[in-house]
Amino acid sequence: MTALLFGATSDIAIALAKCLAKNKYNLQLAGRDMEVMTGLKSNIEIQQQVRVSIYEFDAEKFDGHAAWYDQLLPKPDIVILVFGYLGNHQKALEDWKESKRILDTNYVGAVSILNIVANDFANRKQGVIVGISSVAGNRGRMSNYLYGSAKAGLTAYLSGLRNRLYHSGVHVLTVMPGFVRTQMTEGLKLPPLVTAEPDQVAQKIVNAIAGKRNTLYVLPIWRLIMLVIRNIPEFIFKKLKL
Ligand SMILES: NC(=O)c1ccc[n+]([C@@H]2O[C@H](COP(=O)([O-])OP(=O)(O)OC[C@H]3O[C@@H](n4cnc5c(N)ncnc54)[C@H](OP(=O)(O)O)[C@@H]3O)[C@@H](O)[C@H]2O)c1
Repeated sequence: MTALLFGATSDIAIALAKCLAKNKYNLQLAGRDMEVMTGLKSNIEIQQQVRVSIYEFDAEKFDGHAAWYDQLLPKPDIVILVFGYLGNHQKALEDWKESKRILDTNYVGAVSILNIVANDFANRKQGVIVGISSVAGNRGRMSNYLYGSAKAGLTAYLSGLRNRLYHSGVHVLTVMPGFVRTQMTEGLKLPPLVTAEPDQVAQKIVNAIAGKRNTLYVLPIWRLIMLVIRNIPEFIFKKLKL
């Protein structure tokens, strides 16, 4: 079995790669930083008897995605889309380039590559697609509604993809990590009780793939938190500073 990871240099993807290798998956690592991926490849190959290939991939280079996927051999059995960009929300409100980068990375880039993967898996009538979205997409908040709206789009896309591909025997898993201690959240004060570690996220994703789960809230408390947040009436919600 071969697993392809997009955004392979992210802290969550690195933990996932190690976890999948322990479970004897061969790996295809796709990302922008070849140096980091080269180190990860040799580290995993030394520790586990699996094949690891690395590929340069940029989520924002949409026009090259079809040719990029065409050259991939073998085609993967599992695809996990991990890349994402939190960005600087305040800057993005003034700077369209920053807004566009947030939307392009988290939504347009994901759709661009997953459309191609989905068609391949539908033709082969097999495969698993995992997308890492975010609870930030469950309701728009003043502090990060650009990132949140892109993730909301991704969550809806994955839901539609799951519905479509179910009829071809392909499974789609949506992951809602909650807070995770990674480079993305470095410098933020994260409440320990609702914050997961990358290794924990990776293990739960591997279990959720095996269990054919549809949506995974890494820490189940987040399902409850978001239920409460989603149910606050709009006339109250708009007055909060969230
Ligand atoms: N950490 C959290 O609390 C949290 C919560 C909810 C959801 N998530 C989601 O979890 C996923 C993984 O995040 P993380 O926390 O592990 O963050 P991270 O360590 O900062 O990783 C982000 C990854 O995205 C890659 N990336 C960004 N733009 C890209 C592009 N244009 N093309 C290809 N790769 C690109 C980065 O690659 P470079 O190394 O090349 O920059 C990096 O590998 C993301 O989708 C994030 O939105 C995280």
